[in-house]
Amino acid sequence: MVADNTTARWMSVELHCSQERGTAARDSVLFDCAESLGIKVPTSCRKQGKCKECLVEIVQGMDLLSAPTPQEAHLKGNFRLSCSCRIAADSGVVRCHTMRRGEMRIERHALELPVSNKNLRLEPAVTRDGSRILLDGAEIDQSDGPIHGLAMDLGTTTVVLRLLNLETGEVVADSSFENPQRFGGSDVMARIHYDTQDGSKLLQRTLAGYLSHAIEEFPVEPHSIYEMVVVGNSTMRDLFFRLGVYPIGQSPYRSITEIEMAEGHRTTTSVVENARRLLLPIHPKARVYGLPIISGHVGADAAACMLALDIANEERLVAIMDIGTNTELIVGNKHKILAASCPAGPAFEGGRVTCGMPGLPGAIERVKIRPDSSMDIGVIGDRAAEGICGSGLVDLLSELLGTGQMNALGRFENNEERIVVTSKAGNEIFLSESDVNELAQAKGANVAGLRAVFNEYGNSFEDLDLFYLAGGFGRHLSVDSSKRIGLIPNIDNSKIRQVGNAAIEGACIALLSRTKRAEIESVVKRVVHCRLETDPNFFDYFVEGCQFKPLYSHEPAAIQP
Ligand code: FES
Repeated sequence: MVADNTTARWMSVELHCSQERGTAARDSVLFDCAESLGIKVPTSCRKQGKCKECLVEIVQGMDLLSAPTPQEAHLKGNFRLSCSCRIAADSGVVRCHTMRRGEMRIERHALELPVSNKNLRLEPAVTRDGSRILLDGAEIDQSDGPIHGLAMDLGTTTVVLRLLNLETGEVVADSSFENPQRFGGSDVMARIHYDTQDGSKLLQRTLAGYLSHAIEEFPVEPHSIYEMVVVGNSTMRDLFFRLGVYPIGQSPYRSITEIEMAEGHRTTTSVVENARRLLLPIHPKARVYGLPIISGHVGADAAACMLALDIANEERLVAIMDIGTNTELIVGNKHKILAASCPAGPAFEGGRVTCGMPGLPGAIERVKIRPDSSMDIGVIGDRAAEGICGSGLVDLLSELLGTGQMNALGRFENNEERIVVTSKAGNEIFLSESDVNELAQAKGANVAGLRAVFNEYGNSFEDLDLFYLAGGFGRHLSVDSSKRIGLIPNIDNSKIRQVGNAAIEGACIALLSRTKRAEIESVVKRVVHCRLETDPNFFDYFVEGCQFKPLYSHEPAAIQP
């Protein structure tokens, strides 16, 4: 078995009958193979099959592995527990990867945000009175050491953590990892279904295990973390807080907190829990606060974006679009705000695309087609290409369209089955028509959301003063490529701001300022939820949005209910 360890945590394994370096015989345990390559596999049970953390995704060679064990009964698709999975063949190729940790390309500082921890008046809920550590004025500890708070943006695909010193507002450390709940499906509906069937909170426990490892790796004593603020879409947030998510998956798609508020049992959709109950290794009396959700699938991440981009105090007409597995859309200003959530799926984050991958080292992030039809590519980390991430896919689609190699319907000209981007050392990276179809559907959902929200607001794209592209993916997109394929409205570039991860910025603001936290609690109550599923034009918008062509406002007028 020949194996290759890269910093992107890809483990490429070839089985041979030789004793070459990295080779292993039949019956080798995948966990041990990974360790011998220097890959640290998350575990809390020392390979006993109990913690469920040693997850690997098999990319190739599933049939060369031993049959799933009873400990793996909770896993579907190509996921295995590496401590339970053995090589069951003498030759062949197995490729797999662990959940990626700490190397996602995360923007540590969003750009051009109206509010940030640099211009914020510090007034955290956790304060000090001599050696007494107070939470909302009540003593929870005695310590002369630093006081820390933790912000988390809990995405369907990626989890981002930021550790702050609550006395100075400074960022002490940050971390990120792929959401290990992927074994429960790649989108929120699949996770809801999994959690409802499972009934044992396995998704929450697996995430808590990964979180604990990440927290313990911070350069501070975990018990010096006295408060944590969590943002995420409604499903991710509620799963984390151990709330039932079944009603979010059923029409009319409401979080249990929203239902309880409507019934008068609570006054806010925000949630508070004790760190110990959430299985976190921070101070046992630490408070974990989940920002309020807006409504339905429009979650606490959208609320956090609104806080960071200060839309509630904005006179101009602005839009915020955070493209992800669930795309968040917010349009408005201090007078009126509309919000929607689009189930776009993971294609633009590299999911369901044959050679797709997240924005990690080794991902093709830029593509240009030269006049001789060869490809000029830019790879993250300036290394051999391993796959293509969202910004590279958008560039590639735009170039194929611009050079006439693909039409607006996503069909390749000249009857080609696939378009090869690069082929080196036997590693061919390509785009197929079925990949284009996945991307077209993701784009169609985003465009349908944009059209529905603007239609309900009563404004055109051209009326916008500012269009914020939020999120790690939005930060790295080529604006021109995105406009050419119609992923974003075809408005003047001067109105478009790529602001990075505004959700984590909003979580930090809520952690550092009780005033801002109170403000967002009040603002979410006046946001109007634009329910895409009930919009009679949604399907027409979606079908039109699947085409690769620039997006203008005047087109919806042609579509009648
Ligand atoms: S290491 Fe704990 S289940 Fe595999």
